Amino acid sequence: MSESTELESRRFPVPEQLAARANVGPEVYEEASRDRLAFWARQAERLTWEQTWDQVLDWTNPPFAKWFVGGRLNVAYNCVDRHVEAGHGEQVAYHWEGEPGDRRTITYAQLKDEVCKAANALLELGVQAGDRVAVYMPMIPETVIAMLACARIGAVHMVVFGGFSADALASRLDDSGAVLVITADGGYRRGAASALKPAVDDAVSRSGAVRNVVVVKRTEQDVDWTEGRDLWWHDVVDRQSTEHTPEAFDAEHPLYIMYTSGTTAKPKGIMHTSGGYLTQVAWTHWAVFDLQPDTDVFWTAADVGWVTGHSYIVYGPLANRATSVMYEGTPETPHRGRWFEIIDRYEVSILYTAPTVIRTFMKWGEDIPAEFDLSSLRVLGSVGEPINPEAWLWYHEHIGGGRCPVMDTWWQTETGAHMITPLPGVTTLKPGSAQTPLPGISAKVVDDEGNELGDDTTGLLVLTEPWPAMLRTIWGDDDRYVDTYWSRFGREVYFAGDGAKKDADGDIWLLGRVDDVMNVSGHRISTTEVESSLVAHPTVAEAAVVGASDPTTGQGIVAFVILRGDAEQLGREDSGDDLVQQLRQHVAKDIGPIAKPRQIMVVQELPKTRSGKIMRRLLRDVAEDRELGDVTTLTDSSVMSLIKDKLPATSSSDD
Ligand code: WTA
Repeated sequence: MSESTELESRRFPVPEQLAARANVGPEVYEEASRDRLAFWARQAERLTWEQTWDQVLDWTNPPFAKWFVGGRLNVAYNCVDRHVEAGHGEQVAYHWEGEPGDRRTITYAQLKDEVCKAANALLELGVQAGDRVAVYMPMIPETVIAMLACARIGAVHMVVFGGFSADALASRLDDSGAVLVITADGGYRRGAASALKPAVDDAVSRSGAVRNVVVVKRTEQDVDWTEGRDLWWHDVVDRQSTEHTPEAFDAEHPLYIMYTSGTTAKPKGIMHTSGGYLTQVAWTHWAVFDLQPDTDVFWTAADVGWVTGHSYIVYGPLANRATSVMYEGTPETPHRGRWFEIIDRYEVSILYTAPTVIRTFMKWGEDIPAEFDLSSLRVLGSVGEPINPEAWLWYHEHIGGGRCPVMDTWWQTETGAHMITPLPGVTTLKPGSAQTPLPGISAKVVDDEGNELGDDTTGLLVLTEPWPAMLRTIWGDDDRYVDTYWSRFGREVYFAGDGAKKDADGDIWLLGRVDDVMNVSGHRISTTEVESSLVAHPTVAEAAVVGASDPTTGQGIVAFVILRGDAEQLGREDSGDDLVQQLRQHVAKDIGPIAKPRQIMVVQELPKTRSGKIMRRLLRDVAEDRELGDVTTLTDSSVMSLIKDKLPATSSSDD
């Protein structure tokens, strides 16, 4: 037995104390399988509706689902006001900590006032229900306030991760037709103030629909100012009334758009709606983390710019009246114990993060967490990529003190909420496996033809029933929605794009993407997107990009480029180092620093099949320094020896 198989075969029973008083017990699976829709209706009843629904699900026109048809609710009211009305106004909603060490505590009553003020400001600026509002912010409380203010007036927020470039922002503004941008002068990352406003200025100058830019003062750095268009947040928001009467919207009213990488260069605007989304994020947050709103301190250590932040920093926790921690910066600033210090200070009891961070902590060593009191922790979570058993066990032991169950949650931007995960009071855990579809969720592993596979087999993951938090479409492109997710196995089967294995007990192990989407530090980046960025550079004739396995980030981006004739000389000089650096910077500027290739190899040719398709499999073999697989379908098998001869080629990883 290999070491990793040995680790995989370890089992962790449910802690007795937790099982005795957990929010959900084993009967919940039974209950949901008896009547799936009645189960989801009961979870929807955890929310406050102005008008209840006539029908739980309308699936008469797949894949276009409608959940809680005829129901009306206000999402922001559910996240904030109702807790204040119930007498919990003094409860802390967020313990916020800035990277430089500044702190703010925001109670539910304060959050309600701030959200009302921001909602009134948006109305004053002419934002109407259905309008799109872009949010390009650091991790500060105003980001959450802006999102809730949009939800409150029925505007559709479109948060763009602050690490994305002006180009990426411009294309998202364009595609969504946003009328307003909410941003900040900058934010703190890795010990320095990093600017956001210049990217907004650049992007907005290219996008016709944006009327105003509202700027939060965070870093106090100098900003360029466009009179008439730009407004300080403190000027427009602070003077508003703290009263605003929320209006109820249809359950299917759009709540937000979140762009994510697909297999083509153009990101997809994943659209989520209100009632079903809030039902599932609230229920999963409560059930999967066993949230006890009166005693727990919950921390999703992720950025609000990703779906994890939307569902488990903002909507799930607030709907459940959780007390959360929100942290602006990076784990190593100003020292490598920063996260543990935060857990210690706020007595965090539930921590949710990504495997890439856990592997980084492993690399830094167990002595660092050991210096802090982490005894408040009781449940841990993981998301974004498969967690290898080694990292799972390290997390369990060195962060969780051996007593905290680890919830390995599989889900996607598209699914909106957790789909496959253990439950802390129910499941005997297997390190490395997400294990079980949640109650009310139907996930299967199928072969290439869509036939369901039995236990002990490997295939493709599909979802065979609609679920409340599912995406409703790709913004402005229903056809792409159908083509991407609902055509491979028919219009009623959702193709997730992940490979999966079912073990002998029927537990599910996720195996990573089966398409051309890379997963770098839990972030999805499309190979095509990086390729088109590279070929847009004047020196590059052709480019092929692969995700090579990486011990820390899961996958690392490796690019193979063929230079244009006149640039070839450049490629040869200094072994091309300058040019490689230039290309890496170019991609970072084009898409964002997370898309910067770890390594770029300048080659003469790329391996192609007779039909002209680049054989990424072989390039991955090269990038991962493996023996080459089958080369018989290559047009010219000498290409691979040409590429291999070039190794170690011009490569680089300076950060
Ligand atoms: C991967 C993040 C294995 C998967 C919430 C999926 C996972 C993609 C897990 C979605 C997990 C996410 N185990 N793989 N627990 N969680 N993934 O849209 O490939 O950024 O398709 O959503 O991440 O990434 P996204």
